[in-house]
Amino acid sequence: MPSHSAIALPLSALLCLIASLMLSGCAAPSSHWPATRDLPSQSGPPDPLVRFNGQRVASPEEWARDRRPELKKLFQHYMYGFLPPVPDRIQFVNQGIFTDLLGGKATMKLIDIQAGPEGAPKIQLMLIVPNQRRGPVPVFLAMNFCGNHALLSDPRVPLTTGWLYDSCKGCENGRATEAGRGSQAMDWPLSDIIDRGYALAAFCSTDIDSDRKDVSDGVYAWLSRYWKDPSIAAPANRGTIAAWAWGFHRCVDYLVRDPDIQRQQIAAVGHSRNGKTALLAAALDERIGLAIPHQAGCGGSAPSRGKIGESVERINTAFPHWFNARFKEFNTETDRLPFDQHALVALCAPRPVLFSNAAEDQWANPSGQFDMLKAADPVYKFLGASGLQSETPPPLGQLSPGRLGYYIREGKHSMTAGDWQVFLKFADAHFRSGQ
Ligand code: GCU
Repeated sequence: MPSHSAIALPLSALLCLIASLMLSGCAAPSSHWPATRDLPSQSGPPDPLVRFNGQRVASPEEWARDRRPELKKLFQHYMYGFLPPVPDRIQFVNQGIFTDLLGGKATMKLIDIQAGPEGAPKIQLMLIVPNQRRGPVPVFLAMNFCGNHALLSDPRVPLTTGWLYDSCKGCENGRATEAGRGSQAMDWPLSDIIDRGYALAAFCSTDIDSDRKDVSDGVYAWLSRYWKDPSIAAPANRGTIAAWAWGFHRCVDYLVRDPDIQRQQIAAVGHSRNGKTALLAAALDERIGLAIPHQAGCGGSAPSRGKIGESVERINTAFPHWFNARFKEFNTETDRLPFDQHALVALCAPRPVLFSNAAEDQWANPSGQFDMLKAADPVYKFLGASGLQSETPPPLGQLSPGRLGYYIREGKHSMTAGDWQVFLKFADAHFRSGQ
């Protein structure tokens, strides 16, 4: 265990101390960034190719060396909070390999990821790979709301053990029960995913952090107990979306080591708050090859300066734990943000990103999301990638071409088997034909 003297340090320094002891890398202390009130007002999306000091990025090398790391820090400092550290001790415990899934056409591997010393949150990863494969396959890495057991009715999948949303079928007193098994199978077309030659890796967000204003469990709470410093888990210093993104990264730690997975072809997927997380995870980790934030909206794919749907003030009020305390200072001053969500997409460049939406889901601001892709496009072009191929969104039900993909269908806020067909099409276009 660490020495107690670390507790006297400010949080940023403490996190870096943790970093130096536990991590392979850490964001630099961020105290040199201006206070929110001292940031200049910018009515539109700030140019991602202009550095914080006002200098224009001159080359792709400068983008990768200076501007990309700067943007990563800015997002964590002003909005999401810093991700928990990367553990230098990570264990992958095989809990079973079953070769007879889906009538024998797939193999299910159950892996417990223990990211950190004993007591750290354990992520239960479920990986399903096609049996008919000639080599490593691309994978959709998806974070779910209700547990892996909800995705298929196979009794060998363990029930998720953490806190659970009341809205999940079978949830009793905040915990999963057998009644939830397979309850979301309709929305996760496993058989199609496998037939198309993809693997699916799934994990439940609440293995990492429960989605509550009461932040007494999860990865930050564990860190805070481990370091005997309550401030680490204080709402001011943490963000649930950042914690979940850290969970994505730990699953990637496993996937890049699995010989059945094509390590350059990991697609991060999530719906709504899970989509916000998938985009952040991809933006902060270049090992993720493609991102699909589905109907992610405010705090994810929609502009913070947006006038349609959910506002920054509203999301910070309803879900204060999703972002850090500093983000609340922008509630009525989003014009002071030194970035907008297009810069999160730009961080993914030149990797493919798909924003998929539903026409009735105006809360997620679908048209504002298209504007974010437009504003990220110059970075794709700057890096020599195809980006957006049209100035206007495609008609309803049509996927746009290019590495910045957009799709909007009829209907409401949901993730359906039909949406997965679009995800597959987008992944085919980029993983298979290299558009
Ligand atoms: C709420 C919230 C959204 C979020 C959504 C979800 O509607 O306001 O920001 O995307 O929940 O995660 O389902």
